[in-house]
Amino acid sequence: MSDYKTIIGSCKDKPGGIIEAYHALQREYNYIPEDAIGVAAQTFGLSPAQAYGVATFYSYFKVGPRGRYIIRICESAPCHVAGAAEVVAALESELGIKMGETTADGKFTLEFAECVGQCQSTPVITINSTPHLGVSAQGIPGILQGCK
Ligand code: FES
Repeated sequence: MSDYKTIIGSCKDKPGGIIEAYHALQREYNYIPEDAIGVAAQTFGLSPAQAYGVATFYSYFKVGPRGRYIIRICESAPCHVAGAAEVVAALESELGIKMGETTADGKFTLEFAECVGQCQSTPVITINSTPHLGVSAQGIPGILQGCK
């Protein structure tokens, strides 16, 4: 909790402070811990509901636990046509979770993404922002094994 206080407190006097604080939390944890929202509310003089509302209004903020490896699958048209759906099916069956979920061991989260600008080599997934190009369903187990 004291870590949240330090991170949030460092943004107290910045313009748009609560947004800056949420960015800083998400950089640190990969998501915004629910407990941190209460600390942000106190720090910025908002009700918990208001602070929660800010966190959930912006789609780039993720509230609640997420995995150490965030795997995003591009679902824009070129990747879709190139077989993104089979890659999604392979990821879901290898990890035993659905899109939007996190594995019970907290290691992997699956999310969709818009085009990540690598359309020359579709389908594309990113793992913690590192792109993997021309991915196939058969290649998924090997890629996951690379995530230690
Ligand atoms: S459409 Fe998938 S990277 Fe561009």
